[in-house]
Amino acid sequence: MEKHTGNVTDPASVSGEKPGCEEWRMIHLESGASAMIIPHSRPSIDQSDIDAVSEVLSSGRIAQGEKVKEFEDAVARYVGKKYGVAVSSGTSALHLALLSLGVGPGDEAIMPSYVCSSPYFATLHAGAVPKIVDIDLSNFNICADAVEPQISSRTKAIIVPHMFGNPAELDPLLELGIPVIEDCAQSLGAEYKSHQVGSLGELSVFSFYATKMITTGEGGMIVTDDDESLAELVELRDYDKKPFSPTKYNYKMTDLQASLGLSQLRKLPSFIERRLRIASLYNEALSKYEIQLPNATAGGNVFYRYVVMLGKMEQVRERAHSDGVVCERPVFKPLHSDLEIAQFPNSDKAYDHALSIPLYPSLSQEEADHIIASLEQILRDLVDTERVEQ
Ligand SMILES: Cc1ncc(COP(=O)(O)O)c(C=O)c1O
Repeated sequence: MEKHTGNVTDPASVSGEKPGCEEWRMIHLESGASAMIIPHSRPSIDQSDIDAVSEVLSSGRIAQGEKVKEFEDAVARYVGKKYGVAVSSGTSALHLALLSLGVGPGDEAIMPSYVCSSPYFATLHAGAVPKIVDIDLSNFNICADAVEPQISSRTKAIIVPHMFGNPAELDPLLELGIPVIEDCAQSLGAEYKSHQVGSLGELSVFSFYATKMITTGEGGMIVTDDDESLAELVELRDYDKKPFSPTKYNYKMTDLQASLGLSQLRKLPSFIERRLRIASLYNEALSKYEIQLPNATAGGNVFYRYVVMLGKMEQVRERAHSDGVVCERPVFKPLHSDLEIAQFPNSDKAYDHALSIPLYPSLSQEEADHIIASLEQILRDLVDTERVEQ
């Protein structure tokens, strides 16, 4: 692979092509030549996905219909819940899940600081107050010890994201006696103590964004065992021909999206297998260096992200970029940093040191080999530099 010195911060802007196209992976060098870059994430789409969507497109029935129902049933069955309610995104799924728990003005929902801003905004959409807590640094997840002191009479829900495909320690959280919303946006297929994530919370949500475990382009789902919640969620996601109160939304998924979701769900076992295979290659190569590898004790990790903790994270990230390997901070910014509230040392540490290395089913062996060779060289060089500096 040719080295480049060009700018690789936004691969999509390189060719104007959408992720998934070969050309998207090309970068223009300062010399005028092109070289291959390995994006941080990429959808895994094949001909069977294209055929599934084309079939629905040709049928003329493209809005919410039978395919959505089929997808809801398939995801609910996979997770081990009675019902699925498909919606337009993971964020709208969180919003409706909060509403169906009765979370509203004056109430609080607890969530970790080290997560994307979606749970924060969903809570605000419900009119409630997000209550932020720190994470357990060993697995980047929310933990009961941090949550318990924050529980008050206003606490109506705990949002538990299973970060990077690695399940949170759920039992102690469930024992707190507050309804838990499992946020499985990054973890479809992961297991906690031999239970599918999403099967243990009062309500659980999924995201099917382009680069999630499976995709519908954009999309989400809530799963539940509760008949009343099902009725409420279905009532809220669509406004048409219904009483004006309570306020309704248009959060529907289309049959076009659901047909892609069904096709992707059939491939989920092979997607997970490929993710685990790449993770074990990374584990084997990187265990020789003094860095924190993803928590190996959590048996059910599906490695949505492969996240390591490094002393010189920023230096490694920059050098990997110049090798054509796009590594990223896995969380844009801890929530507390934008809100200017109390100290959250673990979330701060994760922000400063966590680095996500490309890992997805469509990553080729050649790409994985290049990533490993590049990172090993960088880590060796950094150790040598440290020796010289001492
Ligand atoms: C943990 C978590 N929750 C919620 C969401 C929101 O999902 P969506 O982007 O589909 O709204 C995401 C998306 O990245 C996520 O990672």
